[in-house]
Amino acid sequence: MMKYLLILSLTFSSSLLSQELTGKKVFETYCWGCHHQTAVAFGPPFNEIAAKRTKQEIEAYVISPKSMYKAFGYRRTAMTQFHLNDHELDLISDYILSFKGKK
Ligand code: HEC
Repeated sequence: MMKYLLILSLTFSSSLLSQELTGKKVFETYCWGCHHQTAVAFGPPFNEIAAKRTKQEIEAYVISPKSMYKAFGYRRTAMTQFHLNDHELDLISDYILSFKGKK
């Protein structure tokens, strides 16, 4: 019985380790403190962003809020500047856009 449990827990933890990076994970790692999917937090909710921005615009904003905030209609920016790689940018922008039309 113990042996069975051990094998079971080993299988379970290795499947967690091999878990693929997803947009949701990027969100939980970097954005969650300030953005929520459908509720206003410190920053605007993803469903609102998805309703008015393209994938290119979202990626540009995440790459450099400082050079984009004026074009996006903000008077200042309080968002952290990240250094996400192309894969993470692709995942997070698709994740944001997946909230288009959601309440
Ligand atoms: C420190 C808080 C903070 C963090 C962390 C943060 N944001 Fe923001 N974000 C903001 C705020 C506040 C705004 C509103 C404009 C500004 O201050 O730049 C914003 C604006 C945005 C916008 C533009 C909104 C529009 O008008 O279309 C996008 C896109 C965005 N954030 C995406 C992200 C993503 C993706 C992450 C994670 C990788 C992230 N943000 C992390 C605070 C944050």
